[in-house]
Amino acid sequence: MAQRFQAPKGTRDILPADSALWAAVEAVARAVFGRYGFREIRTPIFEETELFARGVGESSDIVGKEMYSFVDKGDRNLTLRPENTAAVVRAFVEHGMARQPQPVKLFYIGPQFRYERPQKGRYRQFHQIGAELLGGKGAESDAEVLLMLVALLGELGFRDLKVLINTVGDEASRSAYREALVGYLESHREKLSDESLRRLSTNPLRILDSKSPQEQELLAGAPQLRDSLTGESRAHFAAVCAALQQFDVAFEVSPRLVRGLDYYTNTVFEIVSEGLGSQNAICGGGAYEGLVEELGGSPTYGVGFAIGEDRLLDVLPADSPARRAGLFLCVGPVVVTDSERLPLKEGETSTVFGLVERLRRSGIPSVEGAGKQEKVYERAVAMLSPAIVYIGERRPGDGACNVRILATGERLQLDESELAPTLKRFFSFAGAFESPAPAMSLPADAVTDDEE
Ligand code: HAM
Repeated sequence: MAQRFQAPKGTRDILPADSALWAAVEAVARAVFGRYGFREIRTPIFEETELFARGVGESSDIVGKEMYSFVDKGDRNLTLRPENTAAVVRAFVEHGMARQPQPVKLFYIGPQFRYERPQKGRYRQFHQIGAELLGGKGAESDAEVLLMLVALLGELGFRDLKVLINTVGDEASRSAYREALVGYLESHREKLSDESLRRLSTNPLRILDSKSPQEQELLAGAPQLRDSLTGESRAHFAAVCAALQQFDVAFEVSPRLVRGLDYYTNTVFEIVSEGLGSQNAICGGGAYEGLVEELGGSPTYGVGFAIGEDRLLDVLPADSPARRAGLFLCVGPVVVTDSERLPLKEGETSTVFGLVERLRRSGIPSVEGAGKQEKVYERAVAMLSPAIVYIGERRPGDGACNVRILATGERLQLDESELAPTLKRFFSFAGAFESPAPAMSLPADAVTDDEE
């Protein structure tokens, strides 16, 4: 029968050839988040539609055009999550996290859904790696989140990404600016597209995002948001920029950057990659001072970001440490292979079959390789395998193993008895085989008077 089913438009399967790399990138993210004290939250894939309407905003494209909404059998209006900030804030309020020690630092990794026109880098089911810091201290929290984001991208091997940052001001700055901008645009209505005319009454700031050359020209003469900023918003932005400079983070102030979600206040940012064409934003984020209150909590400062994982993988550098993550993160198994396969006698298992099973019993992830050496090598690289073991001898138990460590290029010749302990060293970074940490004890001469 002819093939009938395909993955729905705008979605795709992530197959084993790629999924190891996805897992490796996520493992690097988890490690960096952990270092900054962020812990994982997993929220439902669908939420009440009203949550996004309130949280993300009725005037946003996401809520206006892109949501996968449905009515369930109990007549509830539900929506597949188009983003995760609103849901994380919902969980923060629902579980009384404001009573925990502040700030509360959360991260998430998972699929999001938007009904958009699919193209390169734009999917209807896509994946985000995101973080939200709630109950923080304004500019310092913005800077902490940005430093963590830059650290993460640096650890993934990125060197040429651009950090764009701007302030959309606080509520007072924005309402003053809205008035000035609407006044200017009203006097040039004839130059505005239908979309922009609609935004003029719903969310005029979004017009600044316009890609049309005619509107760009018009906007060049428009009042600038920075001229409407309150003293507080000005100081907030200066403090964020100063903290980034203090830690040598290169960034570009981008006065037109306003972002497409309604909850932002003050700091907003995006990270763009030249290699991505028109969908060039790898990550977007910013601060949101009113969202927790909007969703029923008490006023709480929030700031966060979400990386588009699909896009991140599209431009992941060729020398990214994630590509050899098997060594550090225990993603891939050791591949064991023999160069020459003997015909097996009845009742006999192959040398490789036996060795693979013995390795697994010693705790070393391993799989059987077969075929020509180059094929085995290609497969090992694709699986992010840390090593290949070639068995030179033909019968179990009677010979040396040739080990090729992929990440370092080392070649070792070992007896089978030395194999597991040696390979464990190459997996040990992940902590997978470490015995429980020894109790902390200081050498006697390290104890100072203060501590006695
Ligand atoms: P966003 O800018 O809508 O922000 O999405 C963040 C990132 O998700 C984008 O920069 C992009 O890389 C990726 N992305 C968005 N839509 C698609 C798509 N259709 N296909 C592929 N990738 C896509 C948010 O979602 C906010 N919740 C970020 C945030 C967190 N702000 C504060 N905290």
